[in-house]
Order: sequence, then structure tokens, then C-alpha cells
Amino acid sequence: ARLLEQLGCGDDLIVVSNRAPCIHSHTPDGVIAQRPAGGLVTALEAVLAKEGGCWIAHGSGDADRDTCDEHDHVRKEHLDAPYRLRRLWLGEDEVAGYYEGLSNEGLWPLCHRTDVEPTFRDADWEHYVRVNRRFAEAVVAEAATARPVVLVQDYHLALVPQMVRERLPDAVIVLFWHIPFPAPQRLARLPWREQVMAGLLASTVVGLQTPADRDNFKLARGACALGAGAAHVDAYPISIAWPGRQELPAPGLGDDVRRRFGIAPGVRLLVGVDRMDYTKGIPERLQAFELLLELRPELLGQVSLLQIGAPCRGALPAYQEISRQVKAMTARINARFGTDTWQPVVLHAASANAATVTDCYRASDVCLVTSLHDGMNLVAKEFVAARNNLRGVLVLSRQAGAAAELEQALLVEPRDIGGIARAIGRALDMPPQEQTDRMRAMRAVVSQNTVFGWAARLLGDGMRIAAGRTARPEL
Ligand code: G6P
Repeated sequence: ARLLEQLGCGDDLIVVSNRAPCIHSHTPDGVIAQRPAGGLVTALEAVLAKEGGCWIAHGSGDADRDTCDEHDHVRKEHLDAPYRLRRLWLGEDEVAGYYEGLSNEGLWPLCHRTDVEPTFRDADWEHYVRVNRRFAEAVVAEAATARPVVLVQDYHLALVPQMVRERLPDAVIVLFWHIPFPAPQRLARLPWREQVMAGLLASTVVGLQTPADRDNFKLARGACALGAGAAHVDAYPISIAWPGRQELPAPGLGDDVRRRFGIAPGVRLLVGVDRMDYTKGIPERLQAFELLLELRPELLGQVSLLQIGAPCRGALPAYQEISRQVKAMTARINARFGTDTWQPVVLHAASANAATVTDCYRASDVCLVTSLHDGMNLVAKEFVAARNNLRGVLVLSRQAGAAAELEQALLVEPRDIGGIARAIGRALDMPPQEQTDRMRAMRAVVSQNTVFGWAARLLGDGMRIAAGRTARPEL
């Protein structure tokens, strides 16, 4: 049975996020639909595809308007999914202020520990408030009853819970914060922290990724001048849909993937799959690989790093800079060690579709997730889910939320270049039996904690708390 029926939610489920699960673009061959890169969409799409409901998000594709009806709903023939998608249109100045400015030059670097510091501008904040208001109005317009279940996603929409609450006091409002939540001293740098906290605390439930994020959030609530909102606050580590029965990888898959990316047959494969973001630790990963090649010259010609870097937030200087830096490092390492027949680093600075990414996971010897700081990182979980042959090694940053669950990965500190180099070496040397033991343990964890379990816990807590019955005592 559907989760919503089991929980007694009725049919009035509304998901609201900045990013839409599908973006339509014009091409010479007609309109195409693409799924954007990023953990939020990966996780939520699986839930809505199963549950149905309505998804409200910002329309950003150049064919997005042409694929919608007069109510801004994507027309059936353009959305092969059992849910409705309502698009919201933002002007250029709104995108610049709310999305690029406050969300991605302000909140994103505030919440992630990297070398990029947040920038706050009053004008961005004003756009953020206005755009949050517009999302909240769309929620009210889509609600079929006075008590919808509203799942608000991420740091772009911190004010939406309060704005919806004002209009629909009985709504079950669950906000999930997908990125790390900063410690109080760091949050103190946000000029509008009181407004943000008040916005969030109007939720029925506020969900964070890890116990550390939850504790930071509770400290922030304690420090609020407005006093504590009633929201239930807990950690709900997000996950993926566990794949159904899968064939083992075809014997030719490895060569196939190598051919697709211009890698010679027989070369061992390290794979990294990321948005091109300065939080992901890609330069550190490249440095570590370079160091490994220095320390172990017998690996020259024997192993390549395939790095997929999906372009992202390209209007922002910090993103232009990381992209430039990764390309320059790749070129330098390849010039230093490469030969006519072997490139140490193969950079695919473009997005790749889900099937290609899965093929890369399955063809690789080692997957590298070395984020400097990351809310969860679903690449780590997707890699584990793809390895039904029980082989392959995950090298995983301790600063990613996923490290709390995937203890059988080779855990690394993302700034410890020597440590990452040694971990990659160890991964390449790991005996098959040890690979299998570790992979089996990680697969048990991920298969038992899927995104459906995540949604069930979040929505279940929301429903119980809204009904006045607290499910579990507050920690
Ligand atoms: C992270 C955020 C998401 C976001 C995604 C992609 O996963 O938590 O909210 O959608 O990055 O970033 P973008 O700016 O392209 O939506």
C-alpha cells in the first residue's frame, strides 16, 4: 500500500523545492527532458514517483514554459510520472538575488566548511523573502484541503514553513535541510538568523541529516530571541531507492565504459562523480592521486581516474574558479605523467545520465568521495547499491554525512592528501575477500535504510506530532 495511505495522510501531499525533478530544453530534435544532478532530486523523485502528489519547483529550462498548461502544470505528455509538477517562474533579478545570492553565496558557504566564505547582501535577502512568499502562495493554491502534508526542501526555502503556517494553520509541515547545519558561532554570522530560525521552527518537524547537524540546530533554537518554536527536531539521514533485482554486470561492461571515455582496456579505474562544486574536494582528490603516482611509479600506465564533474551554478565566481582549477590540475597531471596511450585523469566536465553513472560505478575498482564537507552525499550510497557483484572499494570522506553509516568504507580526512593517497593505494591492493566483506556490510546498511524509510519516518513523525501524539521523546 502507499505510504501516504498507511499514514492516513490522504492524497494531499505537496513537495516544494527550488530545483525541479525535470528540466525541459529545446534541441534541434525537439523538446527533451533532463534530470538535474544533485542529491535532493535523486532522493525525492523516487518518493513522489511512488506516492504521487504535487511537486512545486522553479522552472529553469528554456522549454519549461512551453511544456506547461495555463495553470503552470507540466502537461501529461511531457511528464512520464504519477505526480503533478507545478512550475514557478522567477525573474532574472529574483534568480540572482534569491538563488545565486542569498542561497548560494550566502547560506551554502555558511553551512559548509570550505575555503569559500559567505557573502550577505541586503538586496539578496529581500529577494529571498519575496521568492519564499511566492513558493508559499503556490503551496496554498495547490492544497486541496485545509490540512495538506507539505514537505519543504532545503536552504532555499527556510521561510516557507512559517508563511504556509500563517495561511494554513493545520497543515502538517515537514522541512528537510539537506546540507550541514552550522554551529552557533558560525550561524551568528548570518544577519537574518532570527528570521531564518523562526521560519524553520514554524514546521511540524525539522529534519536534519546527522545527529551533529541536529545538535547544532537545537543549540541555535536555544539561542533564539523568539524562544523555541514547537517543531520536533531530529536527524533523518536521507538515502536512495534500493534497486530491484539486477543482473550482474555484463563481462564486457568494463571495456565498454573505458572505450566510451577513451581509456585503454585493462587500465584500472578510479571513479569520482560530483557536481563541480568547491565543497566536493576534487582538487584534493587530484592531488592525492598525483601523489600516489609519485610514490608508486609501478602504477604509471596502470590506473586512471575518471572524474565526472557536472556543471553547476556557473554564474557564480566561486564555481567558475573551481571549474577552472580542476581543469588546470587535470591538464598539469596529464602533461606530467601521461603517455600516448594513457591519461592519468580523464575529466568529463559535463553531466552524465543516470544509466551512464551506474555503468561507471559498476566498471570501476574504486569510487572516490572526498568532500570537504557534505550533508549526506548520495553518490556514496549509489555506488554501494550498484555493486551487486560485491566488489569495488569506497574511499569516503569523514566530513560527509554518509560516513556515519558507511563505516566499512575506507574513511579519509579530505584535507589529508597523504592519507587519501594511501587509502587509494590500499583500495587498489585490497584482496577480493576483503572487498566483498566490506561491500556486503555497506549494502546491508543502505538496503535497510532507503529513501522510502526516510520519507516514512519524516512523514510519520509529522502526522503523529500534528495529531498531538509525540512519537518519541525529544532527545
Ligand atoms: C545540493 C542541494 C540541493 C540542490 C543540489 C544541486 O544537493 O542540497 O538543494 O538542488 O545541490 O544544486 P542546484 O543549485 O543545481 O540545484
